[in-house]
Amino acid sequence: MAVRVRPRVNIRVMRTDDLEPVMAIERTAFKSPWSPELLARELEHDWSTILVATEPRGPRGEEAVMGFIIYWMVHDEIHVLNVAVDPPLRGRGVGRTLVQEALARGKAAGATLATLEVRKSNEAAQHLYQTLGFKPVGVRANYYVDEGEDAIVMVANL
Ligand SMILES: CC(C)(COP(=O)(O)OP(=O)(O)OC[C@H]1O[C@@H](n2cnc3c(N)ncnc32)[C@H](O)[C@@H]1OP(=O)(O)O)[C@@H](O)C(=O)NCCC(=O)NCCS
Repeated sequence: MAVRVRPRVNIRVMRTDDLEPVMAIERTAFKSPWSPELLARELEHDWSTILVATEPRGPRGEEAVMGFIIYWMVHDEIHVLNVAVDPPLRGRGVGRTLVQEALARGKAAGATLATLEVRKSNEAAQHLYQTLGFKPVGVRANYYVDEGEDAIVMVANL
């Protein structure tokens, strides 16, 4: 009988030595990935946080990055810029855990509202956000310049 073992997901703030695995996931997840320089600069902004989900892997249980989330805290609002999970590890609750943790940290820091934009075609992400209380409130036409795709604006009260 096959037994599905849930990963032991650990969430922590990204460090500079996570840049390589985070960039590898970024490149597989997005058509127009952020550059390593942009991502590294993000680590220096007070208002920006990148959380990584990790699990122990390999014979010595080395930490492997499973996914990440980038968000900004501005006044009473948390704005999610980016969330991505390593493709083979999707559908196991890692994305949900990352968004939940970001919202919990934002709320603890005084945020009352969470906002984000998501591609109109990205149903997986929209489902995820909806299950966490986000509601679509508008459309930004041609928001994604690479393909001229519209963005759905989603908002959640915390
Ligand atoms: C969106 C993404 C982060 C979700 O991560 P994940 O770890 O696979 O998500 P989870 O396993 O936590 O799933 C949470 C919920 O998301 C939704 N979801 C996930 N994959 C889905 C799919 N293929 N189709 C429809 N809904 C899906 C479901 O509502 C799911 O809840 P359920 O398992 O109770 O049905 C991941 O698919 C990803 O990295 N995509 C590429 C990058 C991206 O599009 N990021 C969003 C940019 S705004």
